[in-house]
Amino acid sequence: MNILTSKQVTYEYRNAVQTVRAVNGVSCTFQQGHVYAIVGPSGSGKTTFLSLLAGLDVPTSGTIELDGESTAKMNRDSYRLNHVSVIYQNFNLFQHLTVLENAAYPLYVRKMPKKKADELAAEKLLQVGLKEDQFKRFPNMLSGGEQQRVAIARALTSGSELILADEPTGNLDSENSRNIVGILQGLAHEGNRCVIIVTHDPAVAEVADVLLKMKDGKLIH
Ligand SMILES: Nc1ncnc2c1ncn2[C@@H]1O[C@H](COP(=O)(O)OP(=O)(O)OP(=O)(O)O)[C@@H](O)[C@H]1O
Ligand SMILES: [Mg+2]
Repeated sequence: MNILTSKQVTYEYRNAVQTVRAVNGVSCTFQQGHVYAIVGPSGSGKTTFLSLLAGLDVPTSGTIELDGESTAKMNRDSYRLNHVSVIYQNFNLFQHLTVLENAAYPLYVRKMPKKKADELAAEKLLQVGLKEDQFKRFPNMLSGGEQQRVAIARALTSGSELILADEPTGNLDSENSRNIVGILQGLAHEGNRCVIIVTHDPAVAEVADVLLKMKDGKLIH
């Protein structure tokens, strides 16, 4: 069944000097249990579209529906907190929290006792290939690829039904990439989540169940 639907979605960046139509009439559906890859040239609107799906921005026109209900009618914070987890292109880790606390954060927000949250987060961090001696460090004491994996672990602990990732393998070597792709695939196929990945990585596009191509803000076939 469709969990997420984009209907004629358009987004314009507006400032004093110009208007950029970054997403231009995109309609598509996303189902649970599937991995979607969004590919396309730099500047084609992929990140913008993902941020609309994530509820970080609101479409200029058109609607995004979760289980048939327009997200415009929902509280945006609760939509983001309860339904979506996002792995950002620039990781967006909390710099003042340790690696472990970053990964456990979605569970703290849900008021899980700290000890239990930390245990679950540690499990996910090990799963993405981080080592225990890194758990107490702050994000700026990790390499780019390691930070990316902390961001992925944080998405894993959140348990959201929608997992949106912007270039999740962009900073990883091929072995770590394969591991992450395998984890994301498992979340969709075994965990019945809906996984949407923006990527330039042919290895990711290859394993996707559905490939969506964007060009000039539009979906092309
Ligand atoms: N804040 C902004 N103000 C104006 N234009 C913007 C802004 N952010 C992005 N754009 C423009 O919107 C278009 C789509 O950008 P977007 O970041 O969605 O592309 P992308 O497909 O994710 O590219 P990449 O593969 O390089 O990450 C581009 O033309 C970009 O220049
Ligand atoms: Mg982008």
